[in-house]
Amino acid sequence: MTETLGFCQEMRPESCGFILFGATGDLAARKILPALFGLCEKKLAPKNFYIVLAGRTPLDRGALESRLWDAVTKAGFSPSPEVFSAFLERLEYIQADYESDAFYALLGGRLAELDAKFGVKKKHLFYLATPPGAFEPITGKLKATGLLFDPKDCACWSRVIIEKPYGFSLESAAALDAGLKQAAPESQAYRIDHFTGKETVQNVMALRSANAVFDGTWNNKFVDHVQITVLEELGLEGRAGFFEHLGLARDMMSHILQLAAITAMDLPATFRDTDFKAEKQRFFESVRPLSREEVSKQAVRGQYAGYRAEPGVAPGSAAETFFAFRFQVDNDRWRGVPFYVRAGKKAGLKKASIDVVYKKPDHGIFTHIDIGYPNVFSFSIQPEEKVSFSLVGKHPGPKLCFTPRSMGLDYRAEGQEAAAFPTDYQRLLIDAMSGDQTLFLSSFEIKFMWEFLSPLLAAWQAAPAANPLRSYADGTPGPAEAAELIKKDGRAWV
Ligand code: BG6
Repeated sequence: MTETLGFCQEMRPESCGFILFGATGDLAARKILPALFGLCEKKLAPKNFYIVLAGRTPLDRGALESRLWDAVTKAGFSPSPEVFSAFLERLEYIQADYESDAFYALLGGRLAELDAKFGVKKKHLFYLATPPGAFEPITGKLKATGLLFDPKDCACWSRVIIEKPYGFSLESAAALDAGLKQAAPESQAYRIDHFTGKETVQNVMALRSANAVFDGTWNNKFVDHVQITVLEELGLEGRAGFFEHLGLARDMMSHILQLAAITAMDLPATFRDTDFKAEKQRFFESVRPLSREEVSKQAVRGQYAGYRAEPGVAPGSAAETFFAFRFQVDNDRWRGVPFYVRAGKKAGLKKASIDVVYKKPDHGIFTHIDIGYPNVFSFSIQPEEKVSFSLVGKHPGPKLCFTPRSMGLDYRAEGQEAAAFPTDYQRLLIDAMSGDQTLFLSSFEIKFMWEFLSPLLAAWQAAPAANPLRSYADGTPGPAEAAELIKKDGRAWV
């Protein structure tokens, strides 16, 4: 076990019932069901806990169990029969018609029975893994039937988690948010962005807070530029219906902006959600969205060559599967430091990272010799969970020669302890069951994301000649123009 220092705060999920809408969908199978299983397997779920899965598809118990088995094993678990049966015992399926009052009446009755059976005191966490069009009807009905309620002075609670995409445009996102607010005040609404639950992402804040050596240099005096990278090896994975409509920028922008905020916001006075969000809001207020006119110079969009041959993709599809852009933060800490972003599918590698690239030495023997950027602080989020710092040191031997070196901190090297730590979705489910909203998104973040995204999308749509969709070979990290975007500033992707 690694030693912990004086400050140690642990989330304790409260006994509750977890109700998953959209339980037969892709997101449920890939992320949420495995996360629920993982919580139960690692004994991180509350002792008194049950799961109700709701979906439109009719499923008998046998079909349900084989779907769950598939989801869990595809996610990499190899559960023993005992562990898997213990999971199944906590869980049941209800066929849903999200529009019908009868369904909510049935659900309400069943939740009361399950509360009694599992010793839960009317504490319910609803997870909407449905298309956004279903959010408002579901939350409206949950509210109307008393399943989503204002806890007032009882010790019970009801909370709702919603998943992106949070709308399709600034207007539709505002309408969606207004609908959500009708049913659930901000204190009950948990907007999830699973990147905030990733271990390295949280360590960015922890390292910055605990080590003055980093935060003291986290500014435009020392930092040359920042890179945010989210490249994926995978392509569509059968999600053409979802992706064709959205494209990569709508799919990934929330993740990118969260990474930017956690890297560059000022440190909050405490890690309580109110302080954390106040600082995050101040950061977003200082980010300058690109204007429509700037997009052609500061952004690149691309599509992998094989995309149009994917099942379900339109022959002339203009959905982007890659984008790169540069933006500026207009505050005293970061003024003049460019932030470069690139994200894409079928990029030949899985790499999610934040790289803080320090300035080159401006005096001493290297003033006239270009040794590149010797110091890069890299937070590797995926596939490894690592933090490293590159520097230049003396090459061993009798001569004075210099050589690049790297210092690292690898979470997985902590062995047993690392195997037990929760994954992104698991961590966020624990937080929601504990009533901690720090890592969830507030209304202002969704609004900011759309204000940031809208000019980019508008320029791409209205001026395709100035903003061509660049093709890139499958298995390569984006089109040549993305390399050019950073190269013309005298820099390169890390
Ligand atoms: C999701 C996107 O939010 O994030 C997917 O919808 C993307 O398109 C995924 O593949 C990446 O996250 P992770 O954690 O699976 O790498």
